[in-house]
Amino acid sequence: MGLSPFRRAGSLSMQSASNSDGSKGRQSSLKNRTVIFGLLAALFLFAVGCTKDKQSTWEAFGPVAQRQLDLFNVTMWMMVIVFVLVEGVLLYAIIRYRKRPGQPKPIPVHGNNTLEIILTIIPTILVLGLGIWSVFTLFYVEKPPSDSPPALHVNVTGHQWWFEFEYPDAGNGKKIITANELRIPVDRPITLSLLSDDVIHSFWVPKLAGKIDMVPTHINKMWFQADSNKIDEELPVTLYGQCAELCGLAHALMRFRVIVMEPADFDSWVAAYGPPPTNTAKAEEGKRLFATNCSLCHTIDGPDDPAVSASRLKGFLTGGDITPVPAPNLTDLRTRQTLAAGLMDLSETNLRAWLHDPEEIKPANYMAERALLYRDGTVSLNDEEVDALIAYLMDLR
Ligand code: CUA
Repeated sequence: MGLSPFRRAGSLSMQSASNSDGSKGRQSSLKNRTVIFGLLAALFLFAVGCTKDKQSTWEAFGPVAQRQLDLFNVTMWMMVIVFVLVEGVLLYAIIRYRKRPGQPKPIPVHGNNTLEIILTIIPTILVLGLGIWSVFTLFYVEKPPSDSPPALHVNVTGHQWWFEFEYPDAGNGKKIITANELRIPVDRPITLSLLSDDVIHSFWVPKLAGKIDMVPTHINKMWFQADSNKIDEELPVTLYGQCAELCGLAHALMRFRVIVMEPADFDSWVAAYGPPPTNTAKAEEGKRLFATNCSLCHTIDGPDDPAVSASRLKGFLTGGDITPVPAPNLTDLRTRQTLAAGLMDLSETNLRAWLHDPEEIKPANYMAERALLYRDGTVSLNDEEVDALIAYLMDLR
């Protein structure tokens, strides 16, 4: 009997020892898992940071993006150094001078002129330096350097929800209006005047330049250039851009592309710009269907007539359900890569799907909402008619 409490105590202590072993084991496995998770997360972030992304500000393809990236890098590394130094000194002071048992009360110190002067001068130099660097960068991104080749000018208009590109003179005085795909020759400055004709949009091609707002009634200007020595791929190269300002329901679906081309290829594209040919009976039928059903909003035979654009815009701004709306110029649709403001590749199948149910592909677009063709939710053309339209638009023979 006398032994039993002892034994019990012994067995209890054994139990509790094994218990505490178990929880220690659990704790350390939890710690291991946290460490592994942390490492994996860091690796993931690192890997993501390293990918050559389609829209990365870390990869500058031209001088404007490069200047902006340089300024960003200098600012960031300066701040990293300041952060590490300040936090380092703070941590050192916290640990080195922490309260210890039996320590006498510290003596209050007031002011240290040398230290205060140093701590004022250093930030002043840093801020002034960054300020001056920023001002020079601002001047640089304002307009192309005077010794660069003659610039190609493009007027860009933001619409809900697509981009319009107008070249007043793309070469030999030829005017071009296109949509959602900006073709540019390599190694030549491109100057842009940006405007919106409804709400505020923002124009952004991360690899070429920072974003800039497109504001109704106020023209913003910018320039950029794609440099052949910064692009290690064979031309033409496609860069990705998008609207960077919340502009309504389809904001996230308002994308565009910049296609950087050899100057000779650009010139051929300019020369070929014109209405689709009608070599087949099907295309002829498509042309007729287009004229009846689409031509109120879309132009297909060259640049839009400014008076027609103005009337579409007026119709759009004054509301009304069936007014013509500003719509992408389709003259060069057959040479484009994408449909519906960069949403999908341009192919016969995708164009058919788009024509049958635009709302399904790009919710809120004005074609589905306002075109007479889609009054009852589906296209009021039969399959052969849609095929004829596609044959014409895409110049299928
Ligand atoms: Cu246009 Cu967002």
